[in-house]
Amino acid sequence: HPIPVIAIDGPSASGKGTVAQLVADKLGFAYLDSGALYRVVAFAAHQNNIAWDDADAVAKCAKSLQIKFIHDQVLLNGQDISNEIRTELMGKGASQVAVHAPVRAALVDLQHSFLQSPGLVADGRDMGTVIFPSAPLKIFLTASTEIRAERRYKQLLGKNQAANYENILQDLQERDARDQRRASAPLVMAEHAILLETDNLSIADAVNTVLDAFKKCK
Ligand code: C5P
Repeated sequence: HPIPVIAIDGPSASGKGTVAQLVADKLGFAYLDSGALYRVVAFAAHQNNIAWDDADAVAKCAKSLQIKFIHDQVLLNGQDISNEIRTELMGKGASQVAVHAPVRAALVDLQHSFLQSPGLVADGRDMGTVIFPSAPLKIFLTASTEIRAERRYKQLLGKNQAANYENILQDLQERDARDQRRASAPLVMAEHAILLETDNLSIADAVNTVLDAFKKCK
């Protein structure tokens, strides 16, 4: 039997991360936050004065990075940058570096290395379509732009970061458009994926829906 993967894709601030992590905890599976990888690349490029639109330079930078996840921490070359990558600026940077095919290619092996027994929950934009196409369970988790903007807004306030609802909404719309329209691994629902609309769905209900679907597909 191959090691099972639950692929959870969807747009920014849809609640994917929270749901994916809870599902992973519940099943005792490993968890891949692939968005964090693109954020780390954006952060490292920024630190090295590499422009986010310079595909080759960013790809070269991405290949040179030593990225590790330890518990809730993201380490870049041994340094904890968990907070630094969670800003709106790095979210924007991530979506700009993620457009480049060579940058995406530079992160493929690293993403595959997260696959370990007894299973993996992989969260991102292209988990079910590109990185783990044979995942037995694929979820497309989404919510309206307004609800997602509200969630991101509250999340930032909760972390005592500056937040402006209108700016967040506009950034989300730009990021969605960039993620959906790019040529390389665009954000699309994978074939056979289960669509989970979370506007009126609690986190607990979303988690249970995923767990039930996983039981059925085993
Ligand atoms: O999920 P998160 O908001 O942290 O992702 C940041 C950005 O990274 C996304 O807007 C998207 O452009 C990019 N990304 C991607 N493919 C993934 C995960 C994230 O292109 N698998």
